Amino acid sequence: MNPTYYITTPIYYVNDKPHIGHAYTTIAADVMARFKRMDGYDVMFLTGTDEHGQKVSKSAENAGLDPQVFVDKVSKNFKDLMPILNVTPDRFIRTTEADHKKAAQDMWNRLIASGDIYLGSYSGWYSVRDEAFYAESELVDGKAPTGAPVEWLEEPSYFFRLSKWQEPLLTFYEQNPDFIAPVSRRNEVVKFVEGGLMDLSISRTSFNWGVKVPGDEKHVMYVWLDALTNYLTGVGFPDIKADSYKKFWPADLHLVGKDILRFHAVYWPAFLMAAGLELPKRVFAHGWWTNEGQKISKSLGNVIDPIELIDQYGADAFRYVLLREVSFGNDGDFSISGMRNRINADLANAYGNLVQRVLSFIYKQCDGVIYASDQLAPQDKLILSNLENALKDVREAIEHQALHKVCDAIWQCIYDANAYVDAEKPWSLRKENPERMKDVLYVLCNVIKRLALLTFPILPSASKTILLQLSVTKFVYENFTEMMPEKHSIEEPYPVFPRIAEEV
Ligand code: MSP
Repeated sequence: MNPTYYITTPIYYVNDKPHIGHAYTTIAADVMARFKRMDGYDVMFLTGTDEHGQKVSKSAENAGLDPQVFVDKVSKNFKDLMPILNVTPDRFIRTTEADHKKAAQDMWNRLIASGDIYLGSYSGWYSVRDEAFYAESELVDGKAPTGAPVEWLEEPSYFFRLSKWQEPLLTFYEQNPDFIAPVSRRNEVVKFVEGGLMDLSISRTSFNWGVKVPGDEKHVMYVWLDALTNYLTGVGFPDIKADSYKKFWPADLHLVGKDILRFHAVYWPAFLMAAGLELPKRVFAHGWWTNEGQKISKSLGNVIDPIELIDQYGADAFRYVLLREVSFGNDGDFSISGMRNRINADLANAYGNLVQRVLSFIYKQCDGVIYASDQLAPQDKLILSNLENALKDVREAIEHQALHKVCDAIWQCIYDANAYVDAEKPWSLRKENPERMKDVLYVLCNVIKRLALLTFPILPSASKTILLQLSVTKFVYENFTEMMPEKHSIEEPYPVFPRIAEEV
């Protein structure tokens, strides 16, 4: 049986159209899912939309639409974004789907059964934008610590005994030091929990757009309890005997943005412990993008539209730039000039040029045929074995969500391969030593094949084109070191990464 890997993104609020933040988490998760699939894992990759709660309900009202009609429409924009990003989820989940509502209610019943829910009344601050309750002491200048406006709520509400889970959570963090990453974020969470946990309001009565509380339909479930449960629904919960549940739960990785770490690293494990279910293995929080140095916000009108960028530069380039520009976990600044520079330097000049000059030379000067060689020189063996090491480094980096290290390891090999071409000069060997020329080209084709397999998770369409030009049709790491056969023919190459003209 293949090893399994279950990875999730947050499910996105359908209050507005998709922006760079949504694209970022989804692309990062897709790179990891694709790598794991190619590496022989049975992968479950879940993403989708978070469709209940006051924020979505208000957006529907503002649009003058019935909430269900509104969420159907907006959720579709998110679903349609997946192929545009070249992202390959195994399920796109929606919290308004019947199986999810059933799962959320089952979760509620489990919490009732464990004695973790009681009826009370909430009076305190709430931010609709964050869908979060805040204590008076957390407010900064009358606003949420995130800068979101807050409103005063007073309403009957069910509470979850979060306070009871403070010690078990701290013990869990201590026994599972890799549960929260990066480490700096882990420390923040531990500090927060050590500071004491208050019971959490988990139902609302002042609006009705949500999953009904079983047995008390005046209440709808708090949107975060509903939403977090999607990770279970996605693998067949509440049927915990289902094959998919047994196979994939607990999740290997919840990938989230830093702003929603508390929900995933505190509330979620507490709900799961109370429900008697296993906890996910890891929660990784990535940083936030600014746009040309400025915080991204609708009011500033500087929201980055992923579709516009992809229209202009292509999905591969967009995916690469998002992963390359920042160390995964840190904040990053997006700029068009930075993006264009990366495309030209790393994709067109370094990678594209390597592939194009080698393949077009073979196509034009050697009738498109690569001859196998059994006389490899030390430098040939070295460059090939460096790629084997790169696969190990990439595997290790993926295990730790160090996506920038994935790029570093691969691009070092690309630079080395260009240096190898310059040093071996196949164009001069053509007259001087045609046998050696064939060996060099053979090595280079095998190098390019390995490179394209390594770049596949990040640059799926270009890598596929390169592999098909080399007549390689299996895109898995099992075949990574397999050398090409004798007299292997290649297709006519064309440049996969065109240079972008300088802006005038
Ligand atoms: N619906 C909740 C998640 C529920 S998961 C059970 C939610 N949705 S969201 O649509 O508001 O946010 C989705 C993600 O986008 C978050 O992970 C958030 O960190 C990310 N980003 C939003 N703006 C961002 C940037 N400017 N930069 C990077 N990511 C950002 O939260």
